[in-house]
Amino acid sequence: MIECRNISKIYCNGDNETAALSGATFSVRDGEFVAIMGPSGSGKSTLMNILGLLDLPTGGTYLLDGKDVSHLSEDELANVRIQKIGFVFQSFNLLPRTSVLRNVTLPLVYGGVPRSDRQAKAEDALRAVEFPEERWEHLSNQLSGGQMQRVAIARALVNNPSLVFADEPTGNLDTKTGVLVMKAFRRLNREKGHTIILITHEAEIARYADRIITIRDGEIVSDMPNREVRND
Ligand SMILES: Nc1ncnc2c1ncn2[C@@H]1O[C@H](COP(=O)(O)OP(=O)(O)O)[C@@H](O)[C@H]1O
Ligand SMILES: [Mg+2]
Repeated sequence: MIECRNISKIYCNGDNETAALSGATFSVRDGEFVAIMGPSGSGKSTLMNILGLLDLPTGGTYLLDGKDVSHLSEDELANVRIQKIGFVFQSFNLLPRTSVLRNVTLPLVYGGVPRSDRQAKAEDALRAVEFPEERWEHLSNQLSGGQMQRVAIARALVNNPSLVFADEPTGNLDTKTGVLVMKAFRRLNREKGHTIILITHEAEIARYADRIITIRDGEIVSDMPNREVRND
């Protein structure tokens, strides 16, 4: 599904150049659950933005489902994103003062899904993350952090994307709530077959994935199957 060859990214701000990624090479197969782990500033978000078609690399080749994405226009990139990719962020990024259901339905509006189908799809996504039905009409800013993140995951899944990125999804949650969120990701991977790429700086969180890629100073320093997938 994902094939990266020698991906690099240099940010230029005036005279200042930052090499955020230098020569990342790896691939991810359909249905994998991969963690990309590294300390703050190691290039994780830069890599996610490139893999998620939110930004382009300065060098190297990125093939998504066999297709070189470097020559696509902004519109074409946006279309691929809408059809194939879901994102979950550390800060949830929900619309405040807007109901849970409305937040989850919104990507379907952009995706051109007919109004009559939206409700059922949003309800399915909320059930998939075990979000309690009695709170579907609550406003997003009335929820706890763990509930917000589950709504954000439902929103990321509502278009049934084959590929889901989560950038530090437990970063704003306490440990216990973080565990629940990680279990939700694992279940979605196991039961629904979504390919999941999880970005984290925490080894304890990476342990929920089946494979751990470690990145440091913009370089992949290890890429190994996780032989002790966390089950609690
Ligand atoms: N838009 C940007 N402009 C300039 N430098 C950036 C930009 N985004 C990230 N960087 C730099 O690139 C490096 C990697 O950043 P990032 O990918 O955000 O790392 P991480 O997500 O692992 O914390 C850091 O040195 C960061 O300061
Ligand atoms: Mg980051």
